[in-house]
Amino acid sequence: MPDRNENQRHLAIIGSTGSIGRQALEVVAADPERFRVVALSADKNVDLIEEQCRRFHPELVAVRDPAAADELRRRLEGERLPVYSGRGGLMAAATAGEADLVVMAVVGSAGLPLTLSAIAAGKDVALANKETLVAGGELVTRAARERGVRLIPVDSEHSALLQCLAGSRTVEVKRLVLTASGGPFRGYTRERLAGVTPEMALNHPTWAMGPKISVDSATLMNKGLEVIEAHWLFGVGYDRIDVVVHPQSLVHSLVEFVDGTYLAQMGPPDMRRPIQYALTYPHRRPAAWPGLDLAKAATMTFEPVDTRTFASLRLAYEAGRMGGTATAVLSAADEVAVGLFLERRLGFLDIERVVEEVLMRHIPQPAPTLAGIMSADEWARAEARKAAAGRR
Ligand SMILES: NC(=O)c1ccc[n+]([C@@H]2O[C@H](COP(=O)([O-])OP(=O)(O)OC[C@H]3O[C@@H](n4cnc5c(N)ncnc54)[C@H](OP(=O)(O)O)[C@@H]3O)[C@@H](O)[C@H]2O)c1
Repeated sequence: MPDRNENQRHLAIIGSTGSIGRQALEVVAADPERFRVVALSADKNVDLIEEQCRRFHPELVAVRDPAAADELRRRLEGERLPVYSGRGGLMAAATAGEADLVVMAVVGSAGLPLTLSAIAAGKDVALANKETLVAGGELVTRAARERGVRLIPVDSEHSALLQCLAGSRTVEVKRLVLTASGGPFRGYTRERLAGVTPEMALNHPTWAMGPKISVDSATLMNKGLEVIEAHWLFGVGYDRIDVVVHPQSLVHSLVEFVDGTYLAQMGPPDMRRPIQYALTYPHRRPAAWPGLDLAKAATMTFEPVDTRTFASLRLAYEAGRMGGTATAVLSAADEVAVGLFLERRLGFLDIERVVEEVLMRHIPQPAPTLAGIMSADEWARAEARKAAAGRR
């Protein structure tokens, strides 16, 4: 094992083959003095994780899919790199002894138990996985507080809020304002939305992202999930979190203070910058990618969000206010509905209908444990499949 360099941050990247994971490794590659990768993990993309292992030399690697893990072991024979598999393998990567910061970049509900394990192991967490705070915000923020570890947001909106809030007290904050690009269907009517295909939904105007979050951006559920995350990350009530449409995606969010002052955080729509900030937090490092050229940024516009056409955002606020397991149910039902839409087994507008149907049937359990959240999640998935079947 190489000697530990105290100036280096030791990273475990969970979901290293995804959009966020790959960009986190770009940040690492651009500043090798500052970072060392101690663990990598994927679901089943053997080709890419093999390449990443050969380039970044982690101390362990985990691939959830057992057959894919076997294949990776075969390919890495002679490398003396332990390859773990299954959920236990992912846990090993999320709690890797040498890591001091875990980048949680898996997609979906797999993120919650992994984040809780990383916290329990005393790791700071750079949190990209949305579902963690949406499903388990109360549990996760309490665990982080009790264990004395940091939850550092990776998402551009929450990174912006973190930066704008630096040095201020909660009582000085009037409201948080999250910006939304409006997605590829800004200005569409309900009639036009009814005919949207997966290809159209995956074609985001300003951000290149994984498929689930791209569809969530098109329905505005993504913004709803971010409102819930902001509530837990910054301890601000739903009545003081607003969304404004900003199609150019240059202002990543704003804070309005009680004296009427706004602070906004700006930059080009490039996730490597908020990822880098999370990886170096609370410090800043020079970045290897181009910044914002204000003279070329042209006009910046802001407009109200249309929750009558895009009902998913309204549903997310409702779930947030219901509290307890309601947000886990919202997230799980959405995951199922988005999956079915991508498989062309559900229409675009059916996504919100399925989520609403499941949410309205749910009786939230307050202050749930992990087991309570997991069982609400399972219930919501089964109900969402039933609701979707009724629409085909
Ligand atoms: N992309 C963005 O710009 C962005 C911005 C803000 C927040 N986020 C959030 O960050 C998270 C990751 O998003 P993404 O766009 O990077 O997703 P993505 O491109 O789909 O990548 C997901 C990663 O997780 C792995 N994975 C998938 N299912 C898994 C499972 N059940 N167990 C373990 N690993 C699993 C994948 O492995 P394989 O490659 O082997 O499938 C891949 O490494 C999401 O929660 C998203 O909402 C993303």
